Amino acid sequence: MKIKILVTGVTGLIGSCTVVELLEISKEVELLFLVRAMNEQAGLERVRQSLAKAGAQLQTLASLEKGQVICGDLSSAAELANDPRLQEVTHVFNCAAVTAFSQRPSIRQVNVHDTLGFAQMVSGLPNMKRFLYVGTAMICGNSPNRIIQEDDFPADTQHFVPYTESKAEVELLLSEALGRVQLVVMRPSIVVGHSRLGCKPSTSIFWVFRMLYQAWRSPFPLNFKIDVLPADYVAKAIAYIGLKEELAYSRYHIAAGSEFSSTFGEIMNTFRIVCKENLAAPSEVSIEHYKDNRNKFNEWFGPGNPRMMLRAINLYYNFANLNVTFDNSRLLSEGFMCPPRFVDYLGLCIKSGCETPVSEQMIDDFK
Ligand SMILES: NC(=O)c1ccc[n+]([C@@H]2O[C@H](COP(=O)([O-])OP(=O)(O)OC[C@H]3O[C@@H](n4cnc5c(N)ncnc54)[C@H](OP(=O)(O)O)[C@@H]3O)[C@@H](O)[C@H]2O)c1
Repeated sequence: MKIKILVTGVTGLIGSCTVVELLEISKEVELLFLVRAMNEQAGLERVRQSLAKAGAQLQTLASLEKGQVICGDLSSAAELANDPRLQEVTHVFNCAAVTAFSQRPSIRQVNVHDTLGFAQMVSGLPNMKRFLYVGTAMICGNSPNRIIQEDDFPADTQHFVPYTESKAEVELLLSEALGRVQLVVMRPSIVVGHSRLGCKPSTSIFWVFRMLYQAWRSPFPLNFKIDVLPADYVAKAIAYIGLKEELAYSRYHIAAGSEFSSTFGEIMNTFRIVCKENLAAPSEVSIEHYKDNRNKFNEWFGPGNPRMMLRAINLYYNFANLNVTFDNSRLLSEGFMCPPRFVDYLGLCIKSGCETPVSEQMIDDFK
């Protein structure tokens, strides 16, 4: 069967790494990209830039054509429906979403309404078989100290931010919007860096760990685990499951799981080793300690607005302090490889991710 995949979110971290992976594993698969751009040429430039950051070879970038670019966004369903290039699409890999941890109204509009409208439109395409939706394992809400299973997803879950709430809401509605088209949900845990490129593709969330190191104080118990993965492992899993014909499940965590997650103590120790610092063991402090010491933030974290920094730490504290990991046995039972541990590639992230100030890195996660 000829496979033609429409990818959304190719200019983002997960989408770009997924496309790099798809281009590497299969010459048979044809790709189209939904891109926000004035015209196909501008869209192609955006795609090339983002794939280059995600590690694509020059030859691969040169082989892409502007005919693969469909200009539009998730709200353009009505205009896109009659595009002749879409008529042969068999798979959609939906990596597009507003991922900001802020309170913007566009989060629900895009992640729920526009995504459903887009799913409905593609479900009417004549050759559509599978809609792969990239969700997030963090729809688990605010209940701590657990290993979370894919179906462990109660409707009354309390969320820390509108982003995860919107991702949870749309998951419940997608099947109906897709009708006869198969829905496969892939839920990555926390994505930080890349196992070969470190933080070159993105410094998203890396700054949280950098802050712990620079303050050399952990607001989390050092034996708490955090479920972190590199973007390329997540991308490989999306490509693998997305193209696998027979699947045992419709929802998969992409996660380090309990076995491959790292503790905060291990993470801080890795910073110490890589940065060759002769430091005593880090201290465990309460989150109030950070609040009480905000006048030291510029000394600890470099330039930036201490109020903004405190807000950012508080939000990520909620997630990181949950001490949850995500069961990955479904993914592994499909024959997919075990994940790397964060501490095994963290050194690369440290070497490539400490050039810009912490305050600049965090802005990207709140925009
Ligand atoms: N990174 C993580 O830690 C992580 C963890 C778990 C799950 N995920 C999930 O993975 C997916 C991708 O995340 P990411 O980290 O790659 O995000 P990202 O880097 O912020 O990229 C978001 C992508 O979505 C596109 N987009 C945003 N609004 C759009 C709209 N209205 N119409 C069309 N495209 C739109 C963006 O396009 P522009 O470039 O034009 O803005 C960009 O390509 C999301 O669903 C997220 O929930 C991510």
